[in-house]
Amino acid sequence: MTSLLDQTALADLAERLVGAAKRAGADAADAIAVRGISLSVEVRDGAVEESQRSEGDDLGLRVLVGRKQAVVSTNDLDGSGFDALAERAVAMARAAPDDRFVFLTGPKKGQVVRAEDLTLGGPQVQAFPMAPDGTVRSDTRLNLVILARFDPAVLTDETRARAADGVVAYSAICTHQGCPVNMWSKEQNAFVCSCHASIFDPRNAAEVIGGPAPRPLAALGLKLKDGVVTVASTFSGHVGATPS
Ligand code: FES
Repeated sequence: MTSLLDQTALADLAERLVGAAKRAGADAADAIAVRGISLSVEVRDGAVEESQRSEGDDLGLRVLVGRKQAVVSTNDLDGSGFDALAERAVAMARAAPDDRFVFLTGPKKGQVVRAEDLTLGGPQVQAFPMAPDGTVRSDTRLNLVILARFDPAVLTDETRARAADGVVAYSAICTHQGCPVNMWSKEQNAFVCSCHASIFDPRNAAEVIGGPAPRPLAALGLKLKDGVVTVASTFSGHVGATPS
């Protein structure tokens, strides 16, 4: 029990997590490490009939990039996933309100994405966010986003609320093993990750409708500014592969 309550190991984990955040580009970071222990004993007729014990550790990380912040958590205690977790958190903090997007590829490569540039009904385009000062946030692939445009009437309420005149935006990084979601299914009107064929429904919060991905793609809230697709709210959840 004494060793379980020793704070040194938890403090060390939290410090390592903060260090990973700084290396990933955070201006500041704080971490919290929590160890939970529960013991239960059931006694009947004066005798112990059953006793149970459980314990678990959780780590939380908050990163600040300028005045933006993001919070992530993990129960990875060996530290092997700290760098990836910190990178994800920094990416989440960076895609921030008033960012615009620039095309990653195609004839408009490097140009700002306007709603009218997107084909109604798909497929998606890949783009990087661009800060208001013109800096393209392409230093990590975790910032890559996919944009698509639909008739607002075909979007679910949740998705329509985040969309801008039918334009939707999601993280392009698959929640399975982190490949870019780079294909489109005409049959299902859906995003496809070609690595292991996970399929995401863009009209319904990028819910998984096929393949091994464990959760939807993180979504961005959007607005239009003079027809330019612009971020209105930060990612709805973890960017990229599910933390171990
Ligand atoms: S990485 Fe996308 S399906 Fe496996």
